[in-house]
Amino acid sequence: MSPRVGVVLGSGLGAFAEHVEGGVRIPYGEIPAMPSSTAIGHKGELVLGRVSGVEVAVLSGRFHLYEGYSAQQVVSGIRLLYELGVRTVLLTCAAGGLNLEYAEGALVLLSDHINLQGANPLVGPNDERLGPRFPDMTEAYSADLRKLAKRTADDLAITLHEGVYAAVLGPSYETPAEIRFLKHIGADLVGMSTVAETIAANHLGMRVLAIACVTNLAAGLGSGKLVHDDVLAIANRVSGTFLKLVSALVPQLAQS
Ligand code: HPA
Repeated sequence: MSPRVGVVLGSGLGAFAEHVEGGVRIPYGEIPAMPSSTAIGHKGELVLGRVSGVEVAVLSGRFHLYEGYSAQQVVSGIRLLYELGVRTVLLTCAAGGLNLEYAEGALVLLSDHINLQGANPLVGPNDERLGPRFPDMTEAYSADLRKLAKRTADDLAITLHEGVYAAVLGPSYETPAEIRFLKHIGADLVGMSTVAETIAANHLGMRVLAIACVTNLAAGLGSGKLVHDDVLAIANRVSGTFLKLVSALVPQLAQS
């Protein structure tokens, strides 16, 4: 097995892993390259198999900074995918929507990001075998892949927006004042993941495509309080559409 395409599944989007054909499942606990889960309980597995006939490596479950993992640990899955031969990675995540054009359940391609997590996985001595000391981030999310994703979504009559993702540390949700600030600095989305992985993937010279599911309007923009279970429920609700889109995208990511 030599997958060229990797997929990282975000909160509530894990159902995709069930659709990997002939999937071999390896719990993270059995993979030495992944952080030990003894300190902080979490489940997750690497799924190797085929989607639409194409070999893929799927990270079902990711590590977050807010769980107490270091930025280096957070990106261990990305580096593992690279070692497996993956050169194009599709990152998925749940996010709060700041852009009022996004309704709950909207799917949004990340066009760029703003890293406000106070952490970067490349801090420390640089391993030149992995990539350069100062990697360029001008096109962190491949423009070609975004075009491809939009075309694919159009063909399936799926609306796919595009926007800038602000990454925060969490785990508390933002205050309405913080959301006003994020809007002011150009964010369309806010979330607690994805950005460290994107940095590590760019460092490795991988092509990155990222799709967020807007699970809620960001704090202060909707009517009520933010509750994680609601976030998961919305992500689950769109999982059918998401599955269709990603299943159609994977073979094209392998080809392009
Ligand atoms: N804020 C941060 N992360 C999130 C949100 C949010 O509103 N929704 C889903 N992940």
